[in-house]
Amino acid sequence: MIDLSNKNALVTGAASGIGKGISKVLAEQGANVVLSDIDPNGARLASEEISGSGGKSQSVHLDVTNRASAQSVVLDLLDQLGQIDIVVNNAGVGGAGGWWERKVPSEDDWDAVLAINLRGVVNISQAVEDGMKERRQGKIVNIASIASRQGGPSIPHYNASKAGVVSWTQSHALQLAPYQINVNAICPGLLWTPLFEQLIGRPDFYDNQALEGLTGRERFEKVIELGIPMQKEQTPEDIGKLTAFLASDDAHNITGQAINVDGGRRMN
Ligand SMILES: NC(=O)c1ccc[n+]([C@@H]2O[C@H](COP(=O)([O-])OP(=O)(O)OC[C@H]3O[C@@H](n4cnc5c(N)ncnc54)[C@H](O)[C@@H]3O)[C@@H](O)[C@H]2O)c1
Repeated sequence: MIDLSNKNALVTGAASGIGKGISKVLAEQGANVVLSDIDPNGARLASEEISGSGGKSQSVHLDVTNRASAQSVVLDLLDQLGQIDIVVNNAGVGGAGGWWERKVPSEDDWDAVLAINLRGVVNISQAVEDGMKERRQGKIVNIASIASRQGGPSIPHYNASKAGVVSWTQSHALQLAPYQINVNAICPGLLWTPLFEQLIGRPDFYDNQALEGLTGRERFEKVIELGIPMQKEQTPEDIGKLTAFLASDDAHNITGQAINVDGGRRMN
């Protein structure tokens, strides 16, 4: 049993999908979870679900692309909570509005993806690291993707941003190792979340005759059947369970790693 009681955790992009699932699992292990998102209403509703099940949680509006605002949110939380022990950098997108309808990512898609998926991770990590360094403890978990492991023709900007997250995880882990702060990444496989629903709708995503004429969900299930050795989809709770372990004291000797949770799709 992982014990995260007396730990304060900040999760970004927690209103939906994987971030919401991670927040639930951390709260189940006893953490006080701050659910943050650019969608404050969604974060509030997700937090209320956790509190309604007996977990400790609260919500806050946080846009990971706005460095100054991120720093001020973190300072407010430090005033209120005393310390932030765990940070999960989960917020992510596939592009600017309507990105899934474009065959080739636009300049705006590249900018949006790098600003949120990569710079957003750096912004939040740097906002919390001073407090962690002073206390010589802290756990940072970055949500990358199996898209970081292999380039692809369909969403090159997304793949590049996630490869950047893995590289940043290694650099930051080395910067913070002398302070006994652990920085790791998780590479989720295929999860049926709003982000993936959009992705599967892209005209050239998984260009495969076997997917023709199928609904979005049926396409997803076919992709799982064809591409995941263990023949099952991954869930936000799967990602939450590894996050909880990496955020626990039991993981004190693991840093700079990127771990796939993908039913065997990637083995590097
Ligand atoms: N779904 C998958 O199959 C999959 C696979 C691998 C990796 N991932 C990664 O997991 C993470 C979560 O994805 P998801 O599938 O749960 O997507 P999702 O769309 O369900 O959730 C993403 C959340 O991020 C929030 N967000 C977007 N921009 C933000 C910003 N600027 N500041 C703060 N919050 C912001 C959104 O409001 C949303 O609540 C992403 O980093 C994604 O790249 C997802």
